[in-house]
Amino acid sequence: MILSVRPAARLAGTVRLPGDKSISHRYALLAAIARGTSELRHFASSQDCRSTLRCIRGLGIPVLEQGETVTIEGRGLRGLTPPAAILDAGNSGTTIRLLSGILAGHPFESSITGDESLSRRPMGRILHPLRLMGASVECRAGDLPPVKVHGGRLKGVRYSLPVASAQVKSCVLLAGLYAEGSSHVEERIPTRDHTEIALGLFGAQLSRSGDWIEVEPGPDLRAQSLEIPGDLSGAAFFLVAAALVPDSVIRLNGVGLNRRRRELLDYLQKAGLDIAIGNERDDAGERRGDLEVRYSPALLHSTLPPIQGRLVAALIDEIPILAILGSQVAGGLEISDAQELRIKESDRIAALAANLHAMGAEVEERPDGLRISGGQRLAGTDIATQGDHRIAMAFAVAALRARGETRIHKAECADVSFPGFYEALDAITTR
Ligand code: S3P
Repeated sequence: MILSVRPAARLAGTVRLPGDKSISHRYALLAAIARGTSELRHFASSQDCRSTLRCIRGLGIPVLEQGETVTIEGRGLRGLTPPAAILDAGNSGTTIRLLSGILAGHPFESSITGDESLSRRPMGRILHPLRLMGASVECRAGDLPPVKVHGGRLKGVRYSLPVASAQVKSCVLLAGLYAEGSSHVEERIPTRDHTEIALGLFGAQLSRSGDWIEVEPGPDLRAQSLEIPGDLSGAAFFLVAAALVPDSVIRLNGVGLNRRRRELLDYLQKAGLDIAIGNERDDAGERRGDLEVRYSPALLHSTLPPIQGRLVAALIDEIPILAILGSQVAGGLEISDAQELRIKESDRIAALAANLHAMGAEVEERPDGLRISGGQRLAGTDIATQGDHRIAMAFAVAALRARGETRIHKAECADVSFPGFYEALDAITTR
């Protein structure tokens, strides 16, 4: 589908966000291996999280979806049954990598595949630690999906993450539930810690010491009743849109403000974003709050702090929309150490460079990032999203500030994380 987006005069209103994608995956997977019935409210409507539910069903676990509430009847840590067919993770890296960790503890053979994009993403990063733990795991040449797992008895591992990846960390921690002896994972660069929080909620024994996280082999996990916060990565598109369009004011309620994810807010606030954060509270170990964001002339006159080093991991999913913002603030934006972006749902460095360039922006593509010149007047054009949801949504926001019509190709890919995104944007837009 080609979606036409025209410039906006003003944005105003309240946006209802889908449930957090990362948290929804983890709750669903843990509910499947817990004992008893879990109720997960405000479960992400994203296609990615549907992929996780589809895989869980394929492993013999009853899953009931009623609107945004998902009920999962877990059968215990070793309660999954051999799938009748190959499991399909769709576009979802989180599904294939986290589920592989769980399947490594099950004494049967299973395979997980994915769509064209996922089939190009590297799995060596999970094969290596899972093999150290004693699992038999295979991939296609080049360590690409499908992943074939023949699990069984695992041994505990001491593993220092070679890349800053919450997915790899989570894969090892989940496999650790099935190991003999404790497993230890070191992360020198912090990444989102939803898995650690969720493991604690479901009753696993987990502790941290410095950069090391230790998980004990499972006692049986207990089913939970949980409410998922709104997705901050989805909110990011609206934060930037409101900041860019004169006279705008947008409210977003119940947004997840996990300490490892909210660095986005600190980053934007420091750069001059006009945002009020209210009603902050903790629920089931995950902080949440209500956001009110306004048109931010101070931000537009700034130079965004460079995104490099540890900040890359903290902002990994927000870089596409921050790149758009970078082209609009006076001093531009420099992104480096971000080679991981080349192996996301698309090569995001190349996709950002090509599409910003197509809109008339000055941008330099580098192996590990981008240098984006600031204060640029964008021109509407055809956007090649590469079927990447975050590229599609980022350029839909760019279009609000561009001259003329922007046509977003394969726009439906936004459903991967945010079904209803364009409708939500349209509903608050005055043209
Ligand atoms: C995710 C972790 C990140 C992120 C992805 C979701 C997660 O990937 O980019 O969208 O839910 O664990 P990596 O851990 O591979 O960096």
